[in-house]
Amino acid sequence: MKLLEQIRENAKKQQKTIVLPEGTEERTLQAADQVIAEGIARIILIGKPEEIHALAEKHGLKHIAQATIIDPENHAKKEAYADLLVELRKNKGMTKEQALKLVTDPLYLGTLMIKSGDADGEVAGARSATGDVLRPALQIVKTLPGISVVSGAFLLLTNKPEYGENGLIVCADCAVLPNPTAEELAQIAVATAGTARAIAKIEPRIAMLSFSTKGSAKNELVDKVVKATELAKQMAPDVLIDGEMQADAALVPSVGNSKAPGSPVAGKANVLIFPSLEVGNISYKLVQRIAGIEAVGPVLQGMAAPINDLSRGCSVSDIVNLIAITVNQAAAKK
Ligand code: ACO
Repeated sequence: MKLLEQIRENAKKQQKTIVLPEGTEERTLQAADQVIAEGIARIILIGKPEEIHALAEKHGLKHIAQATIIDPENHAKKEAYADLLVELRKNKGMTKEQALKLVTDPLYLGTLMIKSGDADGEVAGARSATGDVLRPALQIVKTLPGISVVSGAFLLLTNKPEYGENGLIVCADCAVLPNPTAEELAQIAVATAGTARAIAKIEPRIAMLSFSTKGSAKNELVDKVVKATELAKQMAPDVLIDGEMQADAALVPSVGNSKAPGSPVAGKANVLIFPSLEVGNISYKLVQRIAGIEAVGPVLQGMAAPINDLSRGCSVSDIVNLIAITVNQAAAKK
């Protein structure tokens, strides 16, 4: 079975509830209908009920009737969520008046539902920019214990079995943290190991990427990756992690053997950690567009509950896949 089919099948066994703050966005609504029809998740849609019903009718979406619809302007828990928001943000000066306004913002409302235990995860971003989806998530749901950074991984599904894990490569950070420190880069590596296990179902072999392999170049950017590699190994002694190394040394056995002989990762890496967001974001988009590789994500990792951000160019099937991934993340939460 292909990975995405496996992810959808596994989601069906979990009975998780996913909130979709962009309930009046047409692709999101179509995806919600399919998710409910296939039993991938229970769905909460945020949006004006009359607008959602009109769109459902326009597209012939029969299963939307089974979703819970929450009107952001007028819902039973408005007061309770506002109190929770004040409690969570009082050291940032949040007043009740500000909180009552923010709980009508679907992106804040969605994260407050998760924080209150009313939903297991969230998917948004078909209509909103990444920063607008992430900000409330980072402020309200925050990070997992022991993790201070959220990052975004992609699953690259190549048709070249000689690379990664039978053609599958997990890579990060491609979505969130513009310029990570060595400590943050180490955390990104450890979080990506978790995503590789929980979502890609592979045992990670992590390459910490650079333009240098094992000291071939001297530069402070290389030093950062060397330090991050050491820290990541200390944080996750049970995971195979090596670096610094170039992308060809990470992926091609003959290059790995010659540039990093004896490395447990070189030539067979299935997880690639980029030194910065610029490199990660540009790299995944280049391989996606030029090489035609399917790139699934970003899968946000390190968050205390799963919240995932869609690209605004997403298709209905991208949304269904990301909802299924979010369910899998929720199920993998300890
Ligand atoms: N991990 C954990 N917490 C974070 C992170 C992070 N990576 N970044 C910010 N935070 C926290 C802050 O500590 C702060 O918490 P506090 O308010 O409780 O003190 C809160 O989040 C808000 O942080 P700010 O820095 O004030 O918010 P800002 O709006 O500047 O930035 C954001 C956060 C949205 C993640 C920003 O770094 C960003 O825009 N990153 C790039 C996203 C992007 O555009 N990616 C490319 C597109 S995605 C794609 O192509 C797949």
